[in-house]
Amino acid sequence: MDKEHFHPKGPAVVDRSLTLEMVRVTERAAIAAAGWRGKGDEKAADRAAVDAMRAEMNQMDIAGRIVIGEGERDEAPMLFIGEEVGNGNGPQVDIAVDPLEGTTLCAKNQADSLAVLALAERGGLLHAPDVYMQKIAIGPGYPEGVIDIDEPASDSALKLAKAKGVDVSEITVCILDRPRHAQIVEEMRKVGASVKLIYDGDIAGVIHAAMTDDTGIDMYMGTGGAPEGVLGAAALRCLGGQMQGRLVLDTAEKRERSERLGISDPDKIYGVKELASGDVLFAATGVTNGSMLRGVQIRPHSVRTSTIVMRSWSKTLRWVDARHQRDD
Ligand code: FBP
Repeated sequence: MDKEHFHPKGPAVVDRSLTLEMVRVTERAAIAAAGWRGKGDEKAADRAAVDAMRAEMNQMDIAGRIVIGEGERDEAPMLFIGEEVGNGNGPQVDIAVDPLEGTTLCAKNQADSLAVLALAERGGLLHAPDVYMQKIAIGPGYPEGVIDIDEPASDSALKLAKAKGVDVSEITVCILDRPRHAQIVEEMRKVGASVKLIYDGDIAGVIHAAMTDDTGIDMYMGTGGAPEGVLGAAALRCLGGQMQGRLVLDTAEKRERSERLGISDPDKIYGVKELASGDVLFAATGVTNGSMLRGVQIRPHSVRTSTIVMRSWSKTLRWVDARHQRDD
């Protein structure tokens, strides 16, 4: 338990010193993946990140349980859903991981691939199946109701422009470059909004929308992975902002799979606090250079990493630049 001084929000549930331990975990995964940058082998890069993340996480003083991981137990040998992680000497927490977010970005050495970890009090993270999720997200400072996943996409851009006090031509919307998003892109351009297309990595997309001053992005929109949706929401809980997500359960098999995870309403629209609730910690280390973090820099005798780590209770963001001695 945190021994924090009195605060109207009450005591934090998750020990804040875990933030530094999380940095160690994402740093180690990022360094392992960095060895595979530009090598065209997504699987090897992912495997390296998974191995490294798991080894470091098992040293943490937590009784952790993977909620968002590499897959079901029978398809993923490590960091599978339900796997117990940590050394067991600490609080019971739930964990969401994406040891290498943007495997293709890493394999092609393109911007914004990350090693990502979120940690929450037990029961704090939605047990999302590995299906798609429709998502819309904006940063802090806007009234509730500015975004609505059921409205035409361009309405959200127009409402956001009004709330921001700018013309819609000054609104930038980040969207994954996929044929399924052609209509949203067309709608956005029709009303005059600017569209930033990304090739992969929609956890970074959501974070970018909440760090508008640094990134120039006002909103994230589109359909990506549901596990990435939970991780994006965990970050947003720390950054402030609004998000809606709806699972895409378009087959009986997907509906059955999500029922097994406790999801009874297949059409439910989840708010950010339903995706990630209570006390949440989030860390991401850059693997490749990106607009938010530098990638791993490998030098003859040292390795440098750049990490962002944040906490929902205090909403503190820290950038941790680290120099690691290379083994000779
Ligand atoms: P991976 O790291 O698993 O390759 O995921 C990258 C990603 O771009 C996610 O960020 C995103 O949620 C998802 O893929 C989109 O899926 P798809 O490539 O099928 O459109």
